[in-house]
Amino acid sequence: MNFDLTEEQKAVQAAARDFAQTELLPGVIERDELQKFPAEQVKKLGGLGLMGIMTSETYGGAGMDTVSYVLAMEEICKIDASIGVCMSVNNSLVCWGLEHFGTEAQKQKYLKPLASGELIGAFCLSEPEAGSDATSQRTTAVDCGDHYLINGTKNWITNGNSASIYLVIAQTHPELKHKGINVFIVEKGMPGFVVGKKENKMGIRASDTHSLMFTDVKVPKENRIGDDGFGFKFAMQTLNGGRIGIAAQALGIAAGALELSLKYSMERKSFGTEIFNHQAIQFKLADMATKIDAARLLVLKAAYLKDQHKDYTEAAAMAKLFASQVAMDTTIEAVQIHGGYGFVKEFHVERMMRDAKITQIYEGTSEIQKLVIGRELFK
Ligand code: CAA
Repeated sequence: MNFDLTEEQKAVQAAARDFAQTELLPGVIERDELQKFPAEQVKKLGGLGLMGIMTSETYGGAGMDTVSYVLAMEEICKIDASIGVCMSVNNSLVCWGLEHFGTEAQKQKYLKPLASGELIGAFCLSEPEAGSDATSQRTTAVDCGDHYLINGTKNWITNGNSASIYLVIAQTHPELKHKGINVFIVEKGMPGFVVGKKENKMGIRASDTHSLMFTDVKVPKENRIGDDGFGFKFAMQTLNGGRIGIAAQALGIAAGALELSLKYSMERKSFGTEIFNHQAIQFKLADMATKIDAARLLVLKAAYLKDQHKDYTEAAAMAKLFASQVAMDTTIEAVQIHGGYGFVKEFHVERMMRDAKITQIYEGTSEIQKLVIGRELFK
């Protein structure tokens, strides 16, 4: 077993760390407060190759492995988890899905601008009444010969307004249940497609989350991905990889909170010494560091299995389940270590605590991850 990173992996990790410090740290508090989408920073991420890290160079990506992707995600999310989710959805759900299941024409037209960061993508599965129970799709796609007509509403869509390309999951044959579901590439601006209200969220406030409305949206048949009825399998398979991305986001939030807590505990004095010297604080830091290391190993294992083309369904679910809990535990402790300063915005940890919560909810709640793990154990 080899825990060393390659020179290329170290380089992408260092580049992401540097980018996060110089480009994301300034303004992160303001963007959170104003719910301001980091459009300029996303463009620069694209320039670095981080919006299509795993996509092959043929289609405008950086052609790197999943391990590189999670290393970069961790560094970005140590500073700004809002941009992290934009990056994760574009990389793991949209670009990966298109590259693996799209036609050559779809890749040329849509994947290239998405992987290069010229355009942003969104993944539209959740609905007002279909969250965890994702097979209960109410959005319909009626087959009209050379096109489909899409009708329905999607909820909680990351990159909802900032995206230009949307992968929309919809039911074509209700009698076939999940086997009748399809996935379509929908462009912003197609008549009948309206971006709805922006959510006012507890955390990851700089990422834009919207509802989307579709009324008789005419989508050409060539925009369907895969065979008729492949949509649910598409969603589940892309989400397996998406869960690795969100696990890395959670890991980044936790690791960022630890770095800040360590720094603060070495500067802040109480009872005549730096608070780091109090065992009450050291024990908290030790617990945080141990949990973060365990989460990192699970995340890297899932990424490694994906790179080796081995089954990573269970590993991805375990990584997300554990890392998201670690993000919650460690950010709560980070606020506690900072005391009153932890409760105000300038010290970042209160934002991290708010950002951590969503990692237990989106791309499958912790309860759904347990269900996935349970079913894998049973196999
Ligand atoms: N990987 C591959 N295939 C899977 C799978 C997985 N993880 N989970 C299910 N499938 C397959 C099954 O094998 C089955 O295939 P067959 O018909 O060939 O047997 C099919 O999908 C249906 O599965 P189930 O019979 O298990 O269906 P279910 O309704 O009992 O359970 C579920 C499915 C696992 C609960 C699924 O609905 C699920 O994952 N729900 C959570 C949805 C989710 O993660 N939503 C996130 C929204 S996207 C998002 O958040 C993005 C963002 O913007 C940040």
